[in-house]
Amino acid sequence: MSELILGIETSCDETAAAVVEDGHVVRSNVVHSQIALHQRWRGVVPEVASRSHTERILPIVRAALADAQVTPEQLTAIAVTHRPGMIGCLLVGLAAAKALAWRYGLPLVGVDHVQAHVHTGLLADPQMPLPCLALVASGGHTAMYLLHEPARTERLGTTRDDAAGEALDKGAALLGLPYPGGPSIQNAAVSGNNKAYDLPRTMLGPDSLDFSFSGLKTALLYTLRPQGAPERAAPPEGDELRDLAASYQEAVVDILIKKMRRACEQHEVQSLCIGGGVARNTRLRERLRTDPVLSSLHLVLPDLSLCADNGAMIASLGSILFRRGEISPLDLDAIATPQAGGKAKVRR
Ligand code: KG4
Ligand code: ZN
Repeated sequence: MSELILGIETSCDETAAAVVEDGHVVRSNVVHSQIALHQRWRGVVPEVASRSHTERILPIVRAALADAQVTPEQLTAIAVTHRPGMIGCLLVGLAAAKALAWRYGLPLVGVDHVQAHVHTGLLADPQMPLPCLALVASGGHTAMYLLHEPARTERLGTTRDDAAGEALDKGAALLGLPYPGGPSIQNAAVSGNNKAYDLPRTMLGPDSLDFSFSGLKTALLYTLRPQGAPERAAPPEGDELRDLAASYQEAVVDILIKKMRRACEQHEVQSLCIGGGVARNTRLRERLRTDPVLSSLHLVLPDLSLCADNGAMIASLGSILFRRGEISPLDLDAIATPQAGGKAKVRR
């Protein structure tokens, strides 16, 4: 009989649930995004987010089961994000998962959200050769990992300041573009000249695999309004806006590409996978497909629905952990911070 795992995700601003069969067959993947709710604040408001999760979680779980044509009694286990994230948000998904696990006598599996992004390649392409270099780039995280084998990962580098998505969100705010910034900058950049403005690519030390985006954001600020110049009467528009958006996006993508190339020089890598909201970026995907070094690896560019936050990736890593016997107790805690050093918990 096949294994059916319900995955629940509420760590940030997506209320999500999915049913995954045998670790990689996505039977359903239902996501409710709260973007419209947070747009006027240009970022996620934790209290607003957790209240919305409370309203949505049960309908979303019901929809995931209905789409998958699965009853709770047929489930093998329930996987849920329990870290990292906003604590009030995590608690909503965790409470729902615990209640369902208790009611139906199902095992509960606590999943680390970042590790779920790192393992998305195995969900999208179960034959993906390992080790895999996994880039996780979202509004809250930007880091590179080596996925040595399922549930054994090593963090190679992380951001020292802003996340890549955060840089795009803040850059969009400076350009007068709507939140979330990644998609708005991508759209504005379509017919722009990405070489029009010379923006910095902060690489840190010559061997560093860490990221830094805060200088880029400041450079955009001073490009728009040079020091000592009077405040602009209006945000840029027309060709100036398109060129600025294209140049800014190119700088973010360039940093990500250069760091991934560096990681490949320093480590034995068979495949490359990307996850997180920024992994939806068209230009990043195009650059990966055409990069002379990176495109020679086994490239896994997951479907857009698996890049942003979703329940399928939680169910899929949940399946790996479940098979390893890593069942969580019903008093599993929600934890705001990522695992130390980003290492997945491994029991040998
Ligand atoms: O993974 P995600 O949905 O949520 C977390 O932050 O955990 O990522 C959201 C981030 C935002 O910063 C958003 O601007 C960015 O992903 N993003 C994009 C694109 N779509 C979303 N960045 C670049 N290009 C996109 N197409
Ligand atoms: Zn995420």
